[in-house]
Amino acid sequence: MTTHKLLLLPGDGIGVEISREVERVIETLHGLGGANSFEVEIDLVGGAAIDAHGVAVTEEAIAKASDADAIIFGAVGGPKWDNVPYEIRPEAGLLRLRKDFDLFANLRPAICYPALAEASSLKRELVEGLDILILRELTGGTYFGEPKEIVTQENGEKRAVDTTVYTTSEIERIVKVGCDLARKRSGKLHMAAKWNVMKSGVLWRDVTVATHQKHAPDVELELILADNCAMQLIRNPKQFDVIVTDNLFGDVLSDEAAMMTGSLGMLPSASLGAPDPKTGKSKALYEPVHGSAPDISGQGLANPIAMIASFAMALRYSCDMSSEADIIETAIAKVLDNGLRTADIMQSGLTKVGTEQMGKAIAAEIQSAMA
Ligand code: IPM
Ligand code: MG
Repeated sequence: MTTHKLLLLPGDGIGVEISREVERVIETLHGLGGANSFEVEIDLVGGAAIDAHGVAVTEEAIAKASDADAIIFGAVGGPKWDNVPYEIRPEAGLLRLRKDFDLFANLRPAICYPALAEASSLKRELVEGLDILILRELTGGTYFGEPKEIVTQENGEKRAVDTTVYTTSEIERIVKVGCDLARKRSGKLHMAAKWNVMKSGVLWRDVTVATHQKHAPDVELELILADNCAMQLIRNPKQFDVIVTDNLFGDVLSDEAAMMTGSLGMLPSASLGAPDPKTGKSKALYEPVHGSAPDISGQGLANPIAMIASFAMALRYSCDMSSEADIIETAIAKVLDNGLRTADIMQSGLTKVGTEQMGKAIAAEIQSAMA
């Protein structure tokens, strides 16, 4: 029997509701027996942690995260914390987890389930069968560069600065991951940056070309300006397979890609660190790409699919349980085929369900697939 230690951090808003559905899936897997079991710890993060402890993530939670095989994260933030100081805002908890555990490789797959091709705001033929992967650098760039400040100048005017910083090794390690992923998929890698305007973009371009030549000449590499990439994603998304990009462009492009799949409520993500030289295991955090959706939170309306699919990614990348991950993904597709829809992906003539009903339906499909 292998026991996997999970730290579940539901966070705020709909994070709490959709996390319950992940717990349901875990209980379902437990109920079915098998060679794997889970030890689940739950802790606060984001606004919930600020309310209870005055910080967006406590040292105890960081210690539990460091002890876990995988961190399963819901969502953070909401209007309630709009006025807390920038340094302790809810998002600081998530950024600290990413940075402390050096989770530099953020995989954001955008897969359009056949049943959802109509739910996308793009035409069916553009998104049907879409399967792309945004690989976002997650621990560098504009998010963490210093200086990062608002300074009042002598004339009384304020001046705000964010800094985009990248080193050769930071770019090289993420591009290598991109090459490896592309090789396992269609063999095509795009790198999106702004080398026509930004010095960091020039380094991204040069290091990408050199890394590709050295490690993966067999992979087809295309450099694309980030603004053009945003446009091409809307024009013809299926021309892409893997897109590697920096932290800030990755944030924007992944929301764009997510919407093609029908709803932001569909997109999971995995944030992986470098493999430990001794154990070969990577620290990892799994989270839906969407946020805490304060406008619908507490009403049982949220789509739990992105979070359940994030848990499936945890099984695949952190627990060596690929076949169970496949089963969960198939269960999601089945439930969609059967016409069940949360409000965000609702189409006329189908069955509208809430968070819990959607979670229960997926759990039931998992159960029948494994029984
Ligand atoms: C994301 C989110 C986060 C980000 C926020 C919540 C800090 O938008 O994971 O895409 O900007 O990285
Ligand atoms: Mg984002």
